[in-house]
Amino acid sequence: MVQRETWATRTGFILAAVGSAVGLGNIWRFPFVTGEGGGSAFLLVYLLFVALIGFPAILAEFVVGRKTERNPVGALMELGGNTWKYVGGVFIVTGFVILSYYSVVAGWFIRYFLEGFRGSYGTLLAGHESAAAEAGVPAAAVLFGELSTGLDAFVFHTLFMAVTIGVVALGIRRGIELAVKVMVPAILILLVGMALWAFTLPDAGAGYEYYLSPEFGVIADNWATLLPAAAGQAFFTLSLGMGVMITYASYLGEDRNLTKDGLTIIGFDTGIAFLTGLVVFPVFFAAGITEPGEGGAGAIFVSMTEAFATIGGGHILGLLFFGTVAIAALSSAISLLEVVTAYVIDEKGVERWKAALGMGGIIYLLGVPVTYDLIFLDLLDGFADGILLVFGALMLVILVGWITPKIAIEELEKGIGNLGGLGTAWIWAIRVPILIVLVVTLYLGVEGY
Ligand code: PHE
Ligand code: NA
Repeated sequence: MVQRETWATRTGFILAAVGSAVGLGNIWRFPFVTGEGGGSAFLLVYLLFVALIGFPAILAEFVVGRKTERNPVGALMELGGNTWKYVGGVFIVTGFVILSYYSVVAGWFIRYFLEGFRGSYGTLLAGHESAAAEAGVPAAAVLFGELSTGLDAFVFHTLFMAVTIGVVALGIRRGIELAVKVMVPAILILLVGMALWAFTLPDAGAGYEYYLSPEFGVIADNWATLLPAAAGQAFFTLSLGMGVMITYASYLGEDRNLTKDGLTIIGFDTGIAFLTGLVVFPVFFAAGITEPGEGGAGAIFVSMTEAFATIGGGHILGLLFFGTVAIAALSSAISLLEVVTAYVIDEKGVERWKAALGMGGIIYLLGVPVTYDLIFLDLLDGFADGILLVFGALMLVILVGWITPKIAIEELEKGIGNLGGLGTAWIWAIRVPILIVLVVTLYLGVEGY
């Protein structure tokens, strides 16, 4: 067998993991599930999930990956025994499901990005005014309807998957690590730059005000839908529950401090979600949109194009915004395809480029129906988040908490030193309270689907 690859540099792993976490989940999915899920109540539960369950869970994935140095199927099998390969199989399936529609949505961002080069978003919308008046909806909604399905969507889904496959085919060092070294800093710089720009817009203050003073008095009237939705978003945004972090940690040649890495990744993911708000809300208010945040997959496209059509410099800001999201989506898509590819390489002995091309090709085909009708987007996204990722997290918690707790603590201590009571506290947290929350959440998710 060929020697298994490892990250070339210390930062390679962390950049790849941050690149995976930061993506459409932060920018596209977050606002609309928050809107649908009940605003500030949703936000609060989501943040609790990220901190109290996301952190212990990311550590669980890390130790499983670094300990076994295998893909999720092989890793779970090695630690849990033969039947666990089916759980690993679910992880792989989850990768297929998520990437299939993720790529279509990423394609929309590329499409909107390119539009910024053709002229202003205002001119673009003006061309849709009459159709919009007839239908009684905003021009930006007509535009989204046009671009989100059909030939445009198909072409950019194709392009996005082709690039994703290309990077993964090149391997860990020459593909993924190189790509994230450029992309992750670029995402950060672009977002900070845009946030500064947004700060100079007229009415930015009103945008901050709206964004930063949530009404935490709002009580969820419906826990049964809130819980799985918030949990799903938390796992989705952190790339947890399907083996990305297992896979990326499996390429760690060295004993790093995994708690530090986990906190870094969660910090970046949450920070970038927050930073995006600092761009989006001033832009909305500068454009006179004072009630942002209707739900739906098109929400961000509709509101943002309307805003970019109105404000000064809107087409450059728009082009930067859509482009940045597309880059963020790419580094996440790469991680999704890497999970599936690593499985085929490790377990089936297939060459990397063939594995990436073959699996990426199947995922690409799965995504095609989404470009035809967005009903598939809702179906796949709801299934992946509300059910598959929660299931995955629950299985990991059972494995690490109940089946291999000793090995897990030992592995976590490598690179840190003796954890004392903290290691045991971690195990007991996932053994009982987290396990119970996940069981309830999964039950509600399945019932509500
Ligand atoms: N975390 C990514 C995002 O927020 C999505 C993702 C989910 C990536 C699951 C990998 C695995 O966009
Ligand atoms: Na994310």
